[in-house]
Amino acid sequence: MKSIKENFTVKKQEINYLIDRSGKIKKFKPWLGYLFSFSYDKLMEKSVFPKLLNANINKHFEILKNEFIDIHSLNIIELGTGSGALAEVLPNDNRYVGIDISKGLLKKANYKFKKNNFDNFELYNSSADELPFEDNSFDYAICNLSLNFFDDINLFINELKRVLKTNSIFFCSVPIPERKLEKSKISGTLYSENELNQIFKKYDFDFESKSYENGAILYFTAILKK
Ligand SMILES: C[S@@+](CC[C@H](N)C(=O)[O-])C[C@H]1O[C@@H](n2cnc3c(N)ncnc32)[C@H](O)[C@@H]1O
Repeated sequence: MKSIKENFTVKKQEINYLIDRSGKIKKFKPWLGYLFSFSYDKLMEKSVFPKLLNANINKHFEILKNEFIDIHSLNIIELGTGSGALAEVLPNDNRYVGIDISKGLLKKANYKFKKNNFDNFELYNSSADELPFEDNSFDYAICNLSLNFFDDINLFINELKRVLKTNSIFFCSVPIPERKLEKSKISGTLYSENELNQIFKKYDFDFESKSYENGAILYFTAILKK
């Protein structure tokens, strides 16, 4: 595919892996143990949504469905694909590219995108702060409950900006500290709405919060003006 740096990847059991300088498959520190991948969806439904995020999982999926309903025939990238939740809410006539550092979750995602009849999708075992794609490859980007896990938000936004075309939309759902329950220990780095606004502005994105209310989750878009 034209937007992929072909020489640096190898495909195994339908997942694409990156090749390092010594010719070996690049490994990423797993966020979740490989075996946990198989109970990930249950964990999200029974624990992460109701207990950590104080949020309603069905409402979350309704919000996503509503946001993506009119999106068709676009080149879409998702950062932090996980087990492929978007396969259930994104129209399947888009070209979808998903990246994640977890091999186990990507295998689950592969199953879901096939089950939901996506004809044109690719999955990469890759980190959000170093994307194996050419500049200006994508029309739309999504990050669903993953941004707080990325090690360096600046590296990530720099890469996001590089691979997106001008005027592309980045849609994101992310927990923010001012909405979370005091006792709730949400993993990763949490940025306030104001901090996110400032960071995205720095990289020439127009930031806009959505009015949805769902526990600790903020839904926002950032449009690239470069
Ligand atoms: C809470 S999960 C959300 C996954 C999925 N979007 C969903 O809604 O179910 C966070 C995801 O971020 C991934 N992740 C963590 N650090 C990452 C990084 N640096 N680059 C890409 N993915 C990463 C994890 O492997 C995990 O799949």
